[in-house]
Amino acid sequence: MNDAIQPATGRLGILSVGLGAVATTFITGTLMARKGLAKPVGSFTQFGKMRVGRGDAKRYLPVGEIVPMASLNDIVFGAWDVFKDNAYESAKFCKVLKDSDIEPVRTELEAIVPMKACFDADYAHNLMDARFGRVPDPVWAMADDTRWNWAQNLRSDIRRFKKENHCDRVIVFWIASTEAYTPRNEMVHGTLAGFEAAMKADDRKHLAPSMIYAYAALMEGCPFIMGAPNVCVDIPAMFELSAKQGLPIVGKDFKSGQTMMKTAMAPIFATRLLGVEGWFSTNILGNRDGQVIEHPDNFETKRISKASSIEWILDAEQQPDLYSGISHEIKINYYKPRGDNKESWDNIDIFGWMGYPMQIKVNFLCRDSILAAPICLDLALFTDLALRAGLCGVQEWLSFYVKKPMTYDDGAPVHDLFQQFAMLKNEIRLLGGYEADQELD
Ligand SMILES: NC(=O)c1ccc[n+]([C@@H]2O[C@H](COP(=O)([O-])OP(=O)(O)OC[C@H]3O[C@@H](n4cnc5c(N)ncnc54)[C@H](O)[C@@H]3O)[C@@H](O)[C@H]2O)c1
Repeated sequence: MNDAIQPATGRLGILSVGLGAVATTFITGTLMARKGLAKPVGSFTQFGKMRVGRGDAKRYLPVGEIVPMASLNDIVFGAWDVFKDNAYESAKFCKVLKDSDIEPVRTELEAIVPMKACFDADYAHNLMDARFGRVPDPVWAMADDTRWNWAQNLRSDIRRFKKENHCDRVIVFWIASTEAYTPRNEMVHGTLAGFEAAMKADDRKHLAPSMIYAYAALMEGCPFIMGAPNVCVDIPAMFELSAKQGLPIVGKDFKSGQTMMKTAMAPIFATRLLGVEGWFSTNILGNRDGQVIEHPDNFETKRISKASSIEWILDAEQQPDLYSGISHEIKINYYKPRGDNKESWDNIDIFGWMGYPMQIKVNFLCRDSILAAPICLDLALFTDLALRAGLCGVQEWLSFYVKKPMTYDDGAPVHDLFQQFAMLKNEIRLLGGYEADQELD
């Protein structure tokens, strides 16, 4: 083990912004796993074994034997939400998990009562639209105030949570709704000084609530993870703040279902040099996330996040005969009966030898939050590792878990799932004091 990394002792607070389907599935599963009542399937930190060393020195070790990882027993959860439901009530409402998987940890879930959200309905349009379902009454949010004052309130929330729960470290994790797209504005997002001036001037047009949470987290010494596609920490002002504070920032948008499949399949065509003419992706889902994404402003944020992956893998510049002008269509429709059990279809038009066409159809009947929960756990624990290892700024080695990996200066992120997995393992090797390599496992 690398002595330069701080030990994973003490309590790790995970403060979730949003206590909806993904957050409660993640929290419930973690609480159940630590009681030995469920298995955290899909989590690399809990199940993964990887090779370190080469040749005769080759060994396969669990991640926690290579680098010091926080134990599930040391995690304390907290949250903010605009719905006042505690984690137990929210898990029941979201209907992702069966009662028999919730009741054994009911007491722990009931103790997770959300703090008042920093909320602006213009960024989550349909969330407060009664046509879709329940609207909280009253909305559990901070009083209307300037962005600057909201940040100060959030900072006190974080300090209070840390003190009351005797946490050594706290991570702030956005698992809340996808916000309306916030285009980058150089004056506001270009520098930390500009960002702070805009908060004081209460610039609501350019400062989404998620940015205020991220600012408050970093100011309080907490890393920040963006699980939705929100622009949020993907701006130079936040790069500057994370460097100044020496803290990791991670994002964005969990790569859980359709994009996971796409970034695993596209490398097949790229490595076999098969052409791709079109890729049509459509989804139906009926949870609250689907309700919010149904609005065009919020969908735009998601569309941009989903759009760039296959174009990066199927490089038209390098292979114009095979990948120029791919028709790439992405649709998501809200369809209530489906709930959290999203269904996606992909139709891929490929061509082979002498241009002969073929088609591939993928129909994934998935469970959105079940796929996202292990990603949440791994992102939280690896971000804590990054914190203790003194890694600050954008954590590109965690790209494996996200749809639109952040990079500095809009540099091209790596999208290929297998290359991302190699990046993840190599960073773990390096942090564990081993050589980073590309040897076959
Ligand atoms: N499930 C997946 O596979 C997956 C994949 C990628 C990204 N995501 C993203 O994860 C996020 C959560 O998804 P979900 O299914 O849990 O949605 P959800 O609607 O069930 O939960 C989101 C919660 O966030 C709350 N919220 C909204 N704005 C808030 C604010 N400003 N402050 C505090 N709370 C706020 C909402 O009230 C809601 O309870 C969404 O952005 C979704 O796009 C999910």
